[in-house]
Amino acid sequence: MNVAGKPYRTIWLDQEDTRRVNIIDQRHLPHRFIVESLSEPEQMARAIAEMHVRGAGLIGAAAGFGMYLSSLTAHQSSLDSFLGDMASSAEMLISTRPTAVNLSWAVHRVLAAIAASGTTVEDKIRICLDSARAIADEDADFCRRIGHHGAEIIAEISERKAGATVNILTHCNAGWLAFVDYGTATSPIYAAFEQGVDVHVWVDETRPRNQGASLTAWELGQQGIPHTIIVDNAGGHLMQHGKVDMVITGSDRTTFTGDVANKIGTYLKALAAKDNDIPFYVALPSSTFDWTVRDGVKDIPIEQRDGDEVRYIEGLAENEIISVLITPEKSTAANYAFDVTPARLVTGLITERGICPASEDGILSLFPEHRATVPHSSNHFRF
Ligand code: MRU
Repeated sequence: MNVAGKPYRTIWLDQEDTRRVNIIDQRHLPHRFIVESLSEPEQMARAIAEMHVRGAGLIGAAAGFGMYLSSLTAHQSSLDSFLGDMASSAEMLISTRPTAVNLSWAVHRVLAAIAASGTTVEDKIRICLDSARAIADEDADFCRRIGHHGAEIIAEISERKAGATVNILTHCNAGWLAFVDYGTATSPIYAAFEQGVDVHVWVDETRPRNQGASLTAWELGQQGIPHTIIVDNAGGHLMQHGKVDMVITGSDRTTFTGDVANKIGTYLKALAAKDNDIPFYVALPSSTFDWTVRDGVKDIPIEQRDGDEVRYIEGLAENEIISVLITPEKSTAANYAFDVTPARLVTGLITERGICPASEDGILSLFPEHRATVPHSSNHFRF
């Protein structure tokens, strides 16, 4: 997508020094656009944990490139010591953030690729780079396809409204900054806008880190999409007053039964949407499905972050980014980063292969290759 008219991805191999990987350090947006260059796997792990890069698809791609950086710094004297170091790096990268499944999916994809082929360390390093690039390219391609499928839903609503503005509410940032390009929740919006559909986006600010107010709003602004930032609690009111036509969010992990883990507060939006008969869609690439978990509320690990993210707020003051305390000094804060929206509240899932109901049957009809391996429920008798 474009930044000041120039096309960017969120992560890329440095063209002049292919031992370095560049990222956009999102902690400084929307006030500063800063590119950070990384050469060590530990730097990539820190960038993920401290959210220089964030968002399900992007941390998957970052983990892929992190494995490539690991291959460059791993012991090269023997294949055994090289593979031992790669296994340790894999653990380090996976431990950075627990909820988004793309992270471990990407790490395991690179590990499987180096286990399957290559007879020398040099071969394995090349395979790591090829895998990292493939993960990133695939993420961008899948997000583009999600845009194509999701735009049909927006176009239908526009037709039903005789061309009047389609108001879409989104939560957090499931935009191109959260992936390698296009985004998931925003991709249908970008595609519909390009097709000439009149769209307007309600952007939830998304406390405590304000990914909506700082990232989604910035992204939409760069693409010229009309949008309005609202406080997290405004959505229900807007829905009651007919000011929201649909909700689209992203996902950090979706069970094969359709339960969706996404940024904290998503569940409340889904409840309000259900109560007001407003379609609630979740857009995700297949790398975000967890094919092993049946019950999302029970079994998806929910990241808890430092309470200081709640107690302090960051912003621009006299051209400096500063952090200010907004709570009593001695109060503690809990910081649950994600919640799970049960499948029954989700109208449909927008994937790279098309749109399906948020149910085991719906998901497996689009991804039949997983039918044989998903765990069967104990009360589901199979012949
Ligand atoms: O904590 P973050 O910013 O990495 O959270 C992830 C998200 O951006 C959202 O939950 C998003 O809606 C999921 S899709 C990337």
